[in-house]
Amino acid sequence: MPRIIVDDVHKDFKLRHTHSIKETFVAALKRKPLTTDFHALSGVGFEIGEGESVALLGFNGSGKSTMLKLISGVLTPDEGKVLTRGRVAGLIEVGAGFHPDLSGRENIYLNAAILGMTKKETDERFDEIVEFSEISQFIDTEVKHYSSGMFLRLAFSVAIHTEVDILLIDEILSVGDEPFQKKCLARIRELHSQGKTLVVVSHDLDMVSSLCERGILLRGGAIAFDGPSKEAVALMRA
Ligand SMILES: Nc1ncnc2c1ncn2[C@@H]1O[C@H](COP(=O)(O)OP(=O)(O)OP(=O)(O)O)[C@@H](O)[C@H]1O
Ligand SMILES: [Mg+2]
Repeated sequence: MPRIIVDDVHKDFKLRHTHSIKETFVAALKRKPLTTDFHALSGVGFEIGEGESVALLGFNGSGKSTMLKLISGVLTPDEGKVLTRGRVAGLIEVGAGFHPDLSGRENIYLNAAILGMTKKETDERFDEIVEFSEISQFIDTEVKHYSSGMFLRLAFSVAIHTEVDILLIDEILSVGDEPFQKKCLARIRELHSQGKTLVVVSHDLDMVSSLCERGILLRGGAIAFDGPSKEAVALMRA
């Protein structure tokens, strides 16, 4: 049974052509279009099975983050369907899901709740979460004072200590320092060996080709290749 179904998905964004009220007014009088539709994704379809690890590859602007946001439910498609089965944890933007005025401790509870954990479950895992993140010293500091690496540490730590079925990771590992990246990768491999489904976006092609079996290559918002990750990476480098 598939964990993720993406069926003929289209996602457009509006590109603005005016940058002042006056210009907007003049353009409207002349009946010039104020915006044009930009096709970020057009007709994308694939299925990801239980326990698969998939790399989403492509150059800047090819639609990878948009695709992950659709899978996580942050965005909805204009056309087509995105279905997921099970709990989804998305590590998509550094600091997303964190409330700047709350402390690290409070944000752990907030994020865990978003991922579907009860207060009791979070209490039980709290120490482990903090220990993995290695930022216990700052756990009662408001997160607006955190560095991007500290955000990552906390967000990653919460996500991997929750019962998730699908883990989506967008580039965010790159803000961690090398020791923490290694630790995260080891943990991601462990989750994969336990049968979790992974979708990973990264420009570190060596990393993704060793972590993921399958690669989906996006080019201009459409699928250019879907197959073994090594072949997808070779196409990226071609
Ligand atoms: N909210 C938005 N409004 C307008 N355009 C957007 C929006 N989000 C994304 N886009 C556009 O959609 C295209 C795809 O963006 P996306 O972030 O998915 O690319 P990406 O493959 O993740 O690129 P990168 O490797 O740089 O992270 C880009 O051209 C981007 O400008
Ligand atoms: Mg991106």
